[in-house]
Amino acid sequence: MLITFEGIDGAGKSTQVVKLKRHLQEIGREVLTLREPGGTEVAENIRELLLQSKHEIVPVAELLLFAASRAELVQKVILPALEQGIVVILDRFSDSTTAYQGYGRGLSLELLDEVNRIATFGLRPDLTFYLDITPEDALIRKFSEKSIPLAFDSGELDRMESSGLDFYDRVRDGYLALHDSQKERIMLIDALLSPASIHDLIVRRLDLLKS
Ligand SMILES: Nc1ncnc2c1ncn2[C@@H]1O[C@H](COP(=O)(O)OP(=O)(O)OP(=O)(O)O)[C@@H](O)[C@H]1O
Ligand SMILES: [Mg+2]
Repeated sequence: MLITFEGIDGAGKSTQVVKLKRHLQEIGREVLTLREPGGTEVAENIRELLLQSKHEIVPVAELLLFAASRAELVQKVILPALEQGIVVILDRFSDSTTAYQGYGRGLSLELLDEVNRIATFGLRPDLTFYLDITPEDALIRKFSEKSIPLAFDSGELDRMESSGLDFYDRVRDGYLALHDSQKERIMLIDALLSPASIHDLIVRRLDLLKS
């Protein structure tokens, strides 16, 4: 089974991945958790390129680098694991491409569907948990994480370009549109709930899948 977590930065994906992994292991399942880009030697090199590069990368090149890393991971790691009956949990997958590169950066959704299909060899998640949060709330969370007092007129927040919030608004709209069109696969969860409540909702949804 392939489970993916989606949501804008700070939504709480990594927190839930850890909790779900622990839960599934406790009930005797073998679990593999992965994060993109990376996961094979080639893909880790691509990760370096994407995340460390000081040079600007044009959106299409960024898309294809993510896709190349994903193809490596799917063929070398994910598909073999699924064949062995291992539960694979991914912190972001194709929906991130649609939301960030499509809705966020404005690349054509048709192009993205095609690239996603090629990069995943047609593999689709059985279940996706989308943690929904506004960019403003995600930002407040990040500030409190660093114990920086938040004031909307503070110098700290001024550094967040307004286009930054606009970008994340578009990404969120993208996730909401994906959820609207694929409600069977994508479960929307209010990311402002407590980590324990979110985890309970996830476990209940998985139990439903079994019965
Ligand atoms: N449900 C929650 N309620 C309040 N705070 C939370 C919740 N879930 C996670 N957090 C906190 O919010 C911050 C971001 O969480 P986390 O790293 O899990 O998000 P993420 O979606 O993985 O972010 P990124 O995309 O940046 O990796 C962390 O400080 C975490 O402890
Ligand atoms: Mg994370």
